[in-house]
Amino acid sequence: MAFFEWTDELSVQNKLIDSQHKRLITAVNDFHDSINKGNDETAIRKAVGTLIYYVGTHFADEEKLMEKYDYPQLGIHRRMHERLTQRVLQYEEKLKTGEKILNLDMAIFLKGWLEDHIAGTDKKYAIFIARQKK
Ligand SMILES: [Fe+2]
Ligand SMILES: [Fe+2]
Repeated sequence: MAFFEWTDELSVQNKLIDSQHKRLITAVNDFHDSINKGNDETAIRKAVGTLIYYVGTHFADEEKLMEKYDYPQLGIHRRMHERLTQRVLQYEEKLKTGEKILNLDMAIFLKGWLEDHIAGTDKKYAIFIARQKK
């Protein structure tokens, strides 16, 4: 069983967003694997780089979608994205400087954040957009 499993509960009924979320989950699993493979620094940094890339493109696409539908909670949602991005960038910075960090804690944090964010925050805009389309 993977560290982070996709479940239908996480679906926001949007093919593009669901596929991006799945890709993010894969990136978190790859990051977790790289830690389990004995904390090889190069592997961990590579996995974090991929994760940051997918987080960036996904958040941008999601925000564009919310903008398109004039989603009233866009501001709050964007700030949540920004805070997560900052947190991952800070973590990446610590990896670069060789500061002692708990990698596994970061993997657990990311999994929890994404689960809560997708199932809670993302689903709210999905419901809003589905209503607009009616
Ligand atoms: Fe999302
Ligand atoms: Fe989001």
